[in-house]
Amino acid sequence: MTTMANNSEKKRVLVSGGAGYIGSHVTVELIEAGYDVVVADNMSNCDMTCFEGVKKITGRDDIPFVKIDCCDADSVNKLFSDYRIDAVIHFAAFKAVGESVAEPIKYYRNNLDSFLNILEASKTHGGCNVLFSSSATVYGEAEKLPVTEESPRLPATSPYGNTKQICEDILRDVVSATASLSGSEGPVKGIALRYFNPIGAHPSALIGELPRGVPNNLVPFITQTAIGKRECLSIFGNDYPTEDGTCLRDYIDIVDLAKAHVAAVSRMLDGKMKKDYEIFNIGTGRPVSVYELVTKFEKVNGLKLNYKFAPRRPGDVVAIWADTALANEELGWKAERSVEDTLASAWAWEKHLAEK
Ligand code: UFG
Repeated sequence: MTTMANNSEKKRVLVSGGAGYIGSHVTVELIEAGYDVVVADNMSNCDMTCFEGVKKITGRDDIPFVKIDCCDADSVNKLFSDYRIDAVIHFAAFKAVGESVAEPIKYYRNNLDSFLNILEASKTHGGCNVLFSSSATVYGEAEKLPVTEESPRLPATSPYGNTKQICEDILRDVVSATASLSGSEGPVKGIALRYFNPIGAHPSALIGELPRGVPNNLVPFITQTAIGKRECLSIFGNDYPTEDGTCLRDYIDIVDLAKAHVAAVSRMLDGKMKKDYEIFNIGTGRPVSVYELVTKFEKVNGLKLNYKFAPRRPGDVVAIWADTALANEELGWKAERSVEDTLASAWAWEKHLAEK
């Protein structure tokens, strides 16, 4: 699947937002696949816990870390001048759906500006390969399940979701506009990965999800309830038209997700893309209900969780899961870890945090 880069011609990948949850797992997998990595982060939504964990897991104390805000064009340009960058994986973005509804200007400014700066630097520094972290949120409440990459994108229900759609479109347009550039400016090639619901932690329990404040997402809320940080998990809605009445999602293990990034970056760097802009769904292809996930968590970790059924959460879609055939065939990638192992890893990470 992944090309092991030979030492003398190691390719370098810039991971923007690389100190965060997904970025840290991706950094580990890139290094283990033989890539050089530069991590850039403004630390607005994380601390150094995960970056320190990455260093421990990889045994590498020398991973370049640059503290910059990608909204600052000069800093991004300087980064591209200081390092030869062969590919960028862009994570640096705000991600809280509810906050984006309350503060749309903050979300549009941050998520669009940072990406535009990355794209501009990619173009003006001789061209680059850019991988954008998109989301299944672009499909909204899909009419046909599972969703393929051809399924229609529906109007976003939050500014956060809208930034994902807009950034996909920006990437597509920049790829098309730069295709014939040569000389000091060069073509940008792009891949958008549409993630379903990333959960879990690295098997070492040295890196994982570290939400600030009350978690919005299900699994960190579950683990924080299990450890006693939260009193009770609310399951939002048990009257949906599903078998047990709770919502269905496609929960993708974080290490599997990280490996999909390595596969996508290798595809770009090895010249295997079929089009200059490609999109892939990154999920398991298996729907799991919220209630099922909670009971699996209890079973695999041998504990009882304090939960209650609560009213539906506004904005939630009933069901979404991926058709993963394209990613399986084209990226040579498949989700491998069982949901049980993933839930055990999430619990191990929460316990690791409690011991710190
Ligand atoms: N849920 C609960 N209780 C909680 C938290 C979540 O029952 O305390 C339920 C939700 O209602 C939903 C499911 O668990 O049915 C999953 O919720 P998450 O918040 O974990 O994930 P979402 O499916 O809402 O989020 C996904 C992506 C986000 C993206 C969002 C857009 O993970 O990145 O879709 O709607 F922003």
